[in-house]
Amino acid sequence: MPAIGLGTFGSDKFTPAQVADAVRGAAGIGYRHFDCASVYSNEKEIGGAFADIQRDGIARGDLWITSKVWNDSHGRVVESCEQSLRDLKLDYLDLFLVHWPFPNWHPPHCDVSSRSPDAKPYIHADYMKTWAAMESLVDRGLVKHIGTSNMTIPKLQLLLKDCRIKPVANEMELHPHFQQPDLFEFVKSQGMIPIGYSPVGSPARPERDKTPEDTVDIEDPVIVRIAQRLGLHPATLCVKWAQQRGQVPIPFSITPRNYMANLQAVAGTPLTEQDMKDIAAIDRNCRLIKGQVFLWKDNQTWEDLWDLDGTIPS
Ligand SMILES: NC(=O)c1ccc[n+]([C@@H]2O[C@H](COP(=O)([O-])OP(=O)(O)OC[C@H]3O[C@@H](n4cnc5c(N)ncnc54)[C@H](OP(=O)(O)O)[C@@H]3O)[C@@H](O)[C@H]2O)c1
Repeated sequence: MPAIGLGTFGSDKFTPAQVADAVRGAAGIGYRHFDCASVYSNEKEIGGAFADIQRDGIARGDLWITSKVWNDSHGRVVESCEQSLRDLKLDYLDLFLVHWPFPNWHPPHCDVSSRSPDAKPYIHADYMKTWAAMESLVDRGLVKHIGTSNMTIPKLQLLLKDCRIKPVANEMELHPHFQQPDLFEFVKSQGMIPIGYSPVGSPARPERDKTPEDTVDIEDPVIVRIAQRLGLHPATLCVKWAQQRGQVPIPFSITPRNYMANLQAVAGTPLTEQDMKDIAAIDRNCRLIKGQVFLWKDNQTWEDLWDLDGTIPS
């Protein structure tokens, strides 16, 4: 897996055409890893970009393309994967992820208080049915690898115990103010790759996902100080730190100067040991993508999704 990928979630702000243009531009300057998902509603346009990229001479084998099955399709994993392959104009995916461990979903642009009427908690037997369908995709050669996203240690422990084909990666929120050290170490200890989403702290996330408690990584004085010393934008420093720490960051950007800077930064001179220590010390345990819409009962808080006391609530 290439050490940095380009995120493709255009949020409410960027059109599929803008994101597809960023994919073309990023491939042109050296990106080979793209993080897609059916729920981002832009796989058709990105598929056009992938076709162009390959026509321009980049071999399919040099690309790493990830997609994800959305929560409304846990019972139709194969159909979802086939649709993503058609949209992305590919014969296979390098990695296919279960986007969230819950089958609960919501209409686009809804408020965080929205709940799907038949919302359920995590039910391991149901997840394993979804996982068996994920395994069948590997058997059929439609995907090279399968993985998880937004999992916790208790849920991963159950999956690792019961799976036939192991997840190779867990995609999880990771940035200086949300380092998830326990989950990060657990994922690595299982030989899995932590893929870090929102590595810059997702400054352009939808307004509905912002709360007054959220902190801003790129304004942290330690990040600003080190970035200034190195002549980098604080966002670029966050991406560089992520890669050097051992996760695979997938920053979103539609701005050529920014996605170029992020790629150059991960290829450049490493941060010092002291820089790495200083950034390790600014973790604020500040989860930004809380997942409220995936809750299954009234009067719950988003913490119920994340097994904070080591058990999975039912
Ligand atoms: N598995 C999941 O559940 C999940 C959840 C969330 C996200 N993701 C994935 O992770 C990707 C990234 O996360 P994200 O989009 O939430 O946030 P992010 O990558 O942390 O932040 C993206 C924002 O940072 C800006 N930025 C990026 N590089 C910059 C630079 N060098 N200098 C200045 N600004 C910079 C971008 O602006 P410009 O466009 O102007 O550069 C953009 O507004 C998503 O696109 C998606 O693929 C996955």
